[in-house]
Amino acid sequence: MNTLIIQSPLDMHLHLREAEMLKLVAPLSAAQFAGAVIMPNLIDPIDSLDKLLTYRDQIIHAIGSETFTPYMTLFFREYSKNELETAKEHIIGIKLYPAGITTNSESGVSSLDQARTTFEFMQELQIPLLVHGETNGFVLDRESEFLGTYAWLAENFPDLKIIMEHITTRDAVELLDQYENIFATVTLQHLLITLDDIAGGLLSPHLFCKPIAKFPHDREALLQAALIAHPKLMFGSDSAPHPVHKKECAGCAAGVFTAPVALAVLAELFDKHNALDKLQAFVSDNAQKIYNISPIPKNIEIEKSDFIIPDNYGNVVPFMAGKTISWSVKEF
Ligand code: NCD
Ligand code: ZN
Repeated sequence: MNTLIIQSPLDMHLHLREAEMLKLVAPLSAAQFAGAVIMPNLIDPIDSLDKLLTYRDQIIHAIGSETFTPYMTLFFREYSKNELETAKEHIIGIKLYPAGITTNSESGVSSLDQARTTFEFMQELQIPLLVHGETNGFVLDRESEFLGTYAWLAENFPDLKIIMEHITTRDAVELLDQYENIFATVTLQHLLITLDDIAGGLLSPHLFCKPIAKFPHDREALLQAALIAHPKLMFGSDSAPHPVHKKECAGCAAGVFTAPVALAVLAELFDKHNALDKLQAFVSDNAQKIYNISPIPKNIEIEKSDFIIPDNYGNVVPFMAGKTISWSVKEF
């Protein structure tokens, strides 16, 4: 197969940031995707409907003439039922960050018990819960240690849709088949790299993200689930741009910038494993079914021709910068 059309590709976990960074990165996602789930972890988190609508307008403005749907999320805090009823039609879900676990999450949740009432409202109103599932334990154990919390949520709120965001472990893949109400997103980098690529040789700050990439057996489990387009797994890039001076320094910020290269790299990866026929489900159909959404029709053509990944997009260095890959997205 030398060309491939993906209908309405979706990125189910995306950081678009604000101001100049938003203007730089929003058009890059909008050029290749029909829509994306927009993360609310701005410096001042999106934790009210007012802030959300303002941010949505800024995104639409930054996209320009492209057709692209920003599926908005609220930053989890304790919400009243009334607040949630009013917000429901404007959001695809609510994103929960344990306090202090990643970029701009200082005001995240410190007690799940306190959050119970909000989970109950969300369950009743059928608002999905998106979770950054890490403890503050040893870095390689953080996701596995959090799996008990996912199980607690799934058991206590059986009608709440729970999305494990950016899973990185074999254990998390296994959890998908244990609870009907648990789903997951997986990033591009976690299908391709392990901790060795980050820290095994010269340190690679542009591959550093949260959760950190783990063991070869973890990558293998994630990859196998993606290649069969496991129906409970969706593509979510977690593309998280930081300016180069925040990556190439002591105290490197967490986040890998993958959005502009994701579809081409995924095509190369699925082609290598003879699984191109599963790409449509992995980057769109599964998400449509899980979230019950119908994205705008938008065909993206991908072809088998070399794509030299740019060294930078503005002041941001993308994933696999400077590398040549064998698939590219056709530009119009
Ligand atoms: C994200 C960011 O920079 O906002 N960073 C990351 O490493 N993935 C936050 C997040 O999703 O954890
Ligand atoms: Zn993220």
